[in-house]
Amino acid sequence: MDKFSNLAAERRSMRKFTDEKLTADEIRLLERAALIAPTSKHTNGWEFVAVDNPELLKSLSESKEAGAAFVADAPWALVVFGNPTLTDAWIEDCAISAIMVQLQATDLGLGSCWAHIRNRFAADGSSAADNVRRILGVKVPLEPLCIIAVGHKGMDRKPFDESRIQWDKIHDNKY
Ligand SMILES: Cc1cc2nc3c(=O)[nH]c(=O)nc-3n(C[C@H](O)[C@H](O)[C@H](O)COP(=O)(O)O)c2cc1C
Repeated sequence: MDKFSNLAAERRSMRKFTDEKLTADEIRLLERAALIAPTSKHTNGWEFVAVDNPELLKSLSESKEAGAAFVADAPWALVVFGNPTLTDAWIEDCAISAIMVQLQATDLGLGSCWAHIRNRFAADGSSAADNVRRILGVKVPLEPLCIIAVGHKGMDRKPFDESRIQWDKIHDNKY
């Protein structure tokens, strides 16, 4: 991938993965992308849990009622936590790190998908955030924003359809 304009369009959510594991070099680059993301006031108020244990991935996939099943299928996932006691911009900082990981995955020819955790609930009404903390042994005040699942693509996804870009969402000078 030689151009950001191509990379940005190639990143599509991938919810099916092959059984192939990621290499140590690939994981290193994915983690690096998370850690070099910009943060408000350079606080770096995030923490990440990198998960490759299949049982933990399965438990994480069940931490909320819907929309995280693909995590069980992935060989690797990065769980993104923010610390609201360190920065009021923890959601923004975590979200930027998460998309950096997704773009790095795309650059490596890998697929990825975001499973949202903040303000989500499991079928039994329990908080997805509490479930994720319990599964990974993480304590409050750390708040999980999302899980980024990464793996080798298990299906084809076309790049973003240029004809669907909503250019009318851009307002010149005044709304
Ligand atoms: C904040 C956020 C939360 C998301 N949560 C989920 C989720 O819980 N489960 C899921 O399957 N996809 C989730 N996604 C992926 C979106 O559904 C996806 O990005 C969107 O439909 C556009 O499709 P694309 O990524 O293939 O271009 C999330 C994306 C964002 C940015």
